[in-house]
Amino acid sequence: MSNLALLGGKKLREAPFPPHPVIDEREKKAAMEVLESGMLSTFVASPGKYFLWGKKIREFEQLFADYHKVKYAIAFNSATAALHAAVVACDVQPGEEVITTPYTFTSTATSALMANAVPVFADVDAETFNLSPAAVEARISPLTRAITPVHLFGAPADIDGIMKVAKKHNLKVIEDCAQAPGARYKGKPVGSIGDCGIFSFTENKNITSGEGGMLITNDDHIADVARLVRNHGEAILANQPRSYSSSILGWNYRMTEIDAAIGIEQFKKMDQFNAERNRLAKIVMDGVAPLGFLVPQKIPEGDYSAFYALAFRYDEEKAGVPRKKFVDALNAEGVPFAGGYVKPLYYSPIYHDNKPFIYKHYKGSADYSPNSCPVSERLHFKELLLTIICRPTATDKDMQDVVAAVRKVYENRKELEGYTPA
Ligand SMILES: Cc1ncc(COP(=O)(O)O)c(C=O)c1O
Repeated sequence: MSNLALLGGKKLREAPFPPHPVIDEREKKAAMEVLESGMLSTFVASPGKYFLWGKKIREFEQLFADYHKVKYAIAFNSATAALHAAVVACDVQPGEEVITTPYTFTSTATSALMANAVPVFADVDAETFNLSPAAVEARISPLTRAITPVHLFGAPADIDGIMKVAKKHNLKVIEDCAQAPGARYKGKPVGSIGDCGIFSFTENKNITSGEGGMLITNDDHIADVARLVRNHGEAILANQPRSYSSSILGWNYRMTEIDAAIGIEQFKKMDQFNAERNRLAKIVMDGVAPLGFLVPQKIPEGDYSAFYALAFRYDEEKAGVPRKKFVDALNAEGVPFAGGYVKPLYYSPIYHDNKPFIYKHYKGSADYSPNSCPVSERLHFKELLLTIICRPTATDKDMQDVVAAVRKVYENRKELEGYTPA
């Protein structure tokens, strides 16, 4: 009889982990107030009075700007929309390049394509999993216009290093903070250091408004253009009749009042949520450390992660069992882990068979070949082990179960010798 649940033994944990997101009476009351007001999107033909001047949207934007100590916060209906607006607002022209990491969510890179620009992938650091400034510099070409570092899994990227490269080559920096609201780089909130930063409030993120995004910046031009892109490229002037004419290419990226009302309540809890994520992640990191085969994502001294996910490097040699078998066994014990994150983006069909229109006109030489970013490849295919369950309202006991499951699989790893993963 096996000990491991994967091979017919008793499961370590039957109960699911606590649901996410955490919604309480405050979000419900705030959403109801909007419904009762009848002002759902504030997209009404009363220029200067209501249009894009919704009470809740303005309040959310102000709270966000104040927290980050920036001039502008501009609400969007997703981080993807905010990213697209950021690329346009940074004046990236068709056929120019935006350098980013391949180890991220698709829209970090496709936002460049949306502006008829071209993503160029530079490799990540093996310990922080975030964009390496040296790798970025090696990818700079005469067509490069911007860099989009990502604060992956909530951990700050090396923004000083990126800014140094950007300044030297006169490039714009768009911080993708979708996974890192409230994270701090050398004490500064992420998103407030580059030319602009974007955030996501989709359902699985640290704070949510259902769907939603925010762009922050100190730059007047970026703020103006981002607002135009959010609204069909149409400028609405106070006390003027609506013109219905587009100045630039834009879309409908507007947040609704209900989203904003929910987002405000979530935002008020963000620091507390993040502190709890840090505390929960620490229980797991401390618990598995003595086993010696799991090295947590590096968070440089003085930085603060939002711990959107808890990620490790899995040392197969020390663990004595291939990662896939280990992950299958952990999941069978009732503790969800993934081996790897998103396959390095240059494997996506959009960079090969389904290339967008822009490539026909592109004069550069972006490299989308396999293994073009070897560290990202090694992390994804061999080393990265990831879980998103270290988040409110998980308890200490939940985290102890995570540690116990890792230990159980490790101690019984010999049983996995005859197991063949699907
Ligand atoms: C790193 C990163 N960038 C961008 C996004 C896009 O966010 P949204 O779903 O709000 O468009 C996500 C979310 O999944 C993300 O993880």
